[in-house]
Amino acid sequence: MALSIDGALQVLRPPEDGLPYLRHDRAGELRLDPGSLTVDGDTIAAFESDPAAERRIDASGCAVVPGWVDCHTHLPFAGWRAGEYAMKVAGRPYEEIARAGGGIRASARALAAASDDEVLAQAGGLAAEMLRHGTTTFETKSGYGLSVDAEERSLRLARALAGRAKQDVASTALVAHAVPDGFDAEGWLDAVAAALAEWAPAVQALDIYVESVAFTNAHLERVGALAAAHGLDLRAHVEQFATHRSVPVALEAGARSVDHLACLHHDDLPALVAAECAAVLLPGAEVLGDERVAPARALADAGAIAVLATDANPGTSPVTSLPLVMGLAVRRYRWTALEALLACTLNAAWVLRRSAHTGSLEGGKRADVLVLDGPVEAIPYRLGHNPVAIAIAGGRVVGVRPDCAWRLSE
Ligand code: NIG
Ligand code: FE
Repeated sequence: MALSIDGALQVLRPPEDGLPYLRHDRAGELRLDPGSLTVDGDTIAAFESDPAAERRIDASGCAVVPGWVDCHTHLPFAGWRAGEYAMKVAGRPYEEIARAGGGIRASARALAAASDDEVLAQAGGLAAEMLRHGTTTFETKSGYGLSVDAEERSLRLARALAGRAKQDVASTALVAHAVPDGFDAEGWLDAVAAALAEWAPAVQALDIYVESVAFTNAHLERVGALAAAHGLDLRAHVEQFATHRSVPVALEAGARSVDHLACLHHDDLPALVAAECAAVLLPGAEVLGDERVAPARALADAGAIAVLATDANPGTSPVTSLPLVMGLAVRRYRWTALEALLACTLNAAWVLRRSAHTGSLEGGKRADVLVLDGPVEAIPYRLGHNPVAIAIAGGRVVGVRPDCAWRLSE
């Protein structure tokens, strides 16, 4: 059944078709011309309106953009940690809260105490909230299990979430998040290594958190070797609260992405930019954690594969809205709206190995399409407003904002 999106003010398209990613020094080449777009079944069919289409959307005054890809979230998790946020605002550092049994351990206890149904109800609610804000593809992570059995359960719950969500979902095993009780770091990684043959077929990437309260660069090397041995991508949480010079180690291990980077060492920037490795920036965590500002302007100017994500988690970033994250990035990083959009679309899809199928509006790609209630420049400007009028995932209309329902006719 054809769906014709007619007369948009702006249609966001890449400078050419078939790009796996677009380095950020080329973000200005993205096109934003007026136009129309036809969806046939689950696929983008043409960049013109179809007079015979059974369903139509009046997109006058609207931007039409690819569905957003959130390549770094910690779904599924249980409960929240609002009390810790109040402590942080009052000046208590994250590391101190974590050492006192809060942080990741607090969420591990909450996950253990929650039933599968409770976890899936919360995660399903968050996935729906993300969809309302335009996210049509997202990543899940384990990492709040902190035992072999609980990590397995977390991966199983992530699969169950993927089966229920309307989005396309990628699964990452965050195998080194905090050192579980009863283990030292090496002992825990031994246990992970033994379990990986079973875990690997259901996940796409391994992830590790390098920080004073978590794991070291030597552990990053080891998780990199495990990822390579199992044919999985390596992702890494690095340089969030302090500079550990983890980026060269991650690059040497062939990381697909390095995430956070608020404390990236200046000397490590050129190698990161030269590599085929994404710089995933998380301004929600930066703002809420009062972290340093990642050198995002320099990364973009130098041509990094830059990416934005929510980092949705109960500790450092209880944020699910990519339009909010884009707004923070534009102000905090001095980025353009186009740079922010590139970072939430094609480049984020590349991190999840999905850029051949989604992340840009191209004929033949999956029809993950958003109709916004204004031009793209309004996304960062109207901070906190949800600009998504109509969301289409895999060719299906999966969200219509009530005040924009008049645009859709069938
Ligand atoms: O991406 N930094 C490590 N992991 C998460 C937060 C974990 C937590 O505090 O629950 C992050 O910020
Ligand atoms: Fe994270």
